[in-house]
Amino acid sequence: MRRISLSRYLIEEQRDKGRIDADLRLLIEVVARACKRISLAIGKGELGGVLGSAGSENVQGEVQKKLDVLSNEILLEANEWGGHLAAMASEEMEEPHPIPNRFPKGEYLLVFDPLDGSSNIDVNVSVGTIFSVLRCPEGCEPGEAAFLQPGCEQVAAGYALYGPTTLLALTLGAGVALFTLDRELGSFILTGDKLQIPAETQEFAINMSNQRHWEEPMQRYVGDLLAGVDGPRAKDFNMRWVASMVADVHRILTRGGVFMYPLDARIAGQGGKLRLLYEANPMAFIVEQAGGAASDGHQRILDIQPQRLHQRIPVVLGAKNEVATVVAYHRGN
Ligand code: AHG
Ligand code: MN
Ligand code: MN
Ligand code: MN
Repeated sequence: MRRISLSRYLIEEQRDKGRIDADLRLLIEVVARACKRISLAIGKGELGGVLGSAGSENVQGEVQKKLDVLSNEILLEANEWGGHLAAMASEEMEEPHPIPNRFPKGEYLLVFDPLDGSSNIDVNVSVGTIFSVLRCPEGCEPGEAAFLQPGCEQVAAGYALYGPTTLLALTLGAGVALFTLDRELGSFILTGDKLQIPAETQEFAINMSNQRHWEEPMQRYVGDLLAGVDGPRAKDFNMRWVASMVADVHRILTRGGVFMYPLDARIAGQGGKLRLLYEANPMAFIVEQAGGAASDGHQRILDIQPQRLHQRIPVVLGAKNEVATVVAYHRGN
């Protein structure tokens, strides 16, 4: 079997297909290398002294885990010196992180959720890293304003999933490729290409404990799913909820389904739970590139013009027809 490493895949994307330039290739190589380091740190668990809380809070008001902080530092440190970036922004930092003056600057912006699903880390359940790449607008200082671009402007996005195996899903805007980490070699090997999410599904992912706080259309929609074969949908639905977005979205990329983190009354003031730049946009890009759809219940996520770096939104993504059904419930159809 011909084994294609991530390095070879990226060189071919640059040289043969002309889809990426050398800086973007380097950027993705560096992010993948950082993800390997994060994977190693996670794998050590209690023995590495990396579990538990860091005793600090992030800008979102969440208690940071040691691994939230460590993963953030690994990504910052790995990406500072290569000359491919203008700046970085992260779920774990209030302000964008400029490239220190001692290093050359590039034209890309890197945005990341360094550790997704961090409530799962202490119970040894899958977590991940989500990243998104934008171009720094010409002549624009790489401050907050530079990052406020709709998701359709992303030039690349991906996630690492630290599960029983470590995986990397990547889109450069022409389909989604999947790589598996060969731990002995220390390299990501292509194990899936042109991933496709079936348009129909009988599986949904949502945190049901929030049901009483959702808006009426979501209550009605999920109620109809639960009614099963005797209800208006006339079929039974299965449910899964890992509570790591990376793991839930990866399941959808692998076997289909729909993922939802809707607005609920307690978080309405914040706009939702999930972050537009670090979570919704990169996942929406990946899901659309796999033939799926992503909406906030009313409009396409990738069309939303961000107003703030840490903006949050409701998220519905996955099987195209099921996302359309959720949107129809919100329109009152
Ligand atoms: P993070 O760990 O990066 O803060 O993100 C957690 C998110 C997401 O991964 C997941 O889908 C959701 O929070 C889980 O929320 P609940 O704990 O409310 O189910
Ligand atoms: Mn968090
Ligand atoms: Mn997250
Ligand atoms: Mn996180």
